[in-house]
Amino acid sequence: VLAANWKMNIGPVEAAKFIAQFLAEYSPQEGKTVAFFPPAVSIATVATLVKHRADIKVGVQNIWHRDNGAFTGEISPELAAEAGAYYCLVGHSERRNEFAESDDVVRQKFTAALRAGLAPLLCVGESRRERVDGRTSEVVGRQLRTVIGELDSSQIGAMALAYEPVWAIGTGDNATPEDASQVHRQLRLLLRQAAGPVNADRIPILYGGSVKPDNAARLLAAPDVDGVLVGGASLDVASWLQIVRA
Ligand code: 13P
Repeated sequence: VLAANWKMNIGPVEAAKFIAQFLAEYSPQEGKTVAFFPPAVSIATVATLVKHRADIKVGVQNIWHRDNGAFTGEISPELAAEAGAYYCLVGHSERRNEFAESDDVVRQKFTAALRAGLAPLLCVGESRRERVDGRTSEVVGRQLRTVIGELDSSQIGAMALAYEPVWAIGTGDNATPEDASQVHRQLRLLLRQAAGPVNADRIPILYGGSVKPDNAARLLAAPDVDGVLVGGASLDVASWLQIVRA
């Protein structure tokens, strides 16, 4: 799964141009899914343009965990699904840090996404301080367990997971393939314990944090790395095409 997180960039007009150019250059490749996470205002535009391509999915970057009602400015998972979203990002470190989302809010958003039939893509990752203190395994383990602890195996089987070390996001300082592999292996074991091998092994575990055209192939070749979640380098069609072809 090659996922582009556009964050707060690329409105509907630019999104239409981006996708047209991308579709002209990229034909489906066996075993690969490409996912775009545009800002909410661009979801419908992107979803309409990729409708005929089963290998390309659209996702929403954030939802509010209630089904509908008086929540000015928020988007429910149902509304995102109606606009064409298939995936839903949950627990991105920018939501945790800039918008003070606790593990418990992340859990509620995750279950709300599942309820609406969206595939939640949960992000976990340690800060630089936590890494220096040797707490990576404890932090990502807690972030995952809090969310999946009460779910049954088939619900867990519907998710996707991304390891995004906070110190690697937007810094140019990516994890080595070996480091990423090690954390992914731990996450896979936790998923197996929670959901059994059949459900756990179909969950893609993506790496995110300063993925660029020149490091994507090495990261994607690492054991237990099933894809990438890309911010900055997904904003330019040429660089994004290099990554999806890596
Ligand atoms: P960068 O690729 O810009 O480091 O961002 C990663 C990210 O946060 C994707 O969700």
